[in-house]
Amino acid sequence: MNADTKIASNAGYAAEADSLVASYESITFEDIYAPILNLLPQAGRALDIGAGTGRDAAALAKRGFLVHAAEPTAELRAHAQRLHREPTITWTDDALPDLPQLHAGTARFDLILMTAVWMHLDEEERARALPRIAHLLTSSGRLFMTVRKGPVPPGRRMFPIPIEPLIAAAGESGLALLKNYEFSDRLGRQDVSWTMLAFERENRV
Ligand SMILES: C[S@@+](CC[C@H](N)C(=O)[O-])C[C@H]1O[C@@H](n2cnc3c(N)ncnc32)[C@H](O)[C@@H]1O
Repeated sequence: MNADTKIASNAGYAAEADSLVASYESITFEDIYAPILNLLPQAGRALDIGAGTGRDAAALAKRGFLVHAAEPTAELRAHAQRLHREPTITWTDDALPDLPQLHAGTARFDLILMTAVWMHLDEEERARALPRIAHLLTSSGRLFMTVRKGPVPPGRRMFPIPIEPLIAAAGESGLALLKNYEFSDRLGRQDVSWTMLAFERENRV
């Protein structure tokens, strides 16, 4: 993607980037993913899609992963690169559903993370994205994701995500469900709740 590429799914983030930093950085990767930390692969290559301010990318780098962080909102990417200077994080301006930069390369990932991103894609984008995400995983690579439920903040674009159809569509892309876990909002918003899903890429001959 070049710097002028526009997507609809990140509406609102550029304007609010400066005010989002503190809240995004006030929680930790370990807090969010506590229920599935036991499923975290041994350190290898990780891809954080929609990496925001880089909180999770930095946590994975500290755990020994070589991290690729894809973030299409330049204003968030700038904060991330300022805050998290781990040399093992590579930043890219790339976006779902197609992730053209990543698909142009040969890297495959032992872990793909999508924290609070999926609900920004519409139905057609979600259908297109899943097989492309699965394709970027190594065999037995894992996908961790969280999906938000709750009101759409003004200026953002979000869709309701039915979870069972998502699990079924992931299965059709060769992703087997390891964990489906409901949890409350880590920022304390009473009207927001989350689903956490962990998948593993099946070894299909
Ligand atoms: C709620 S924020 C989450 C950021 C970070 N993952 C976190 O948990 O703090 C949603 C992120 O998704 C990004 N995003 C929106 N549309 C995207 C797309 N099509 N592909 C990749 N990332 C996208 C936004 O720019 C933003 O960084």
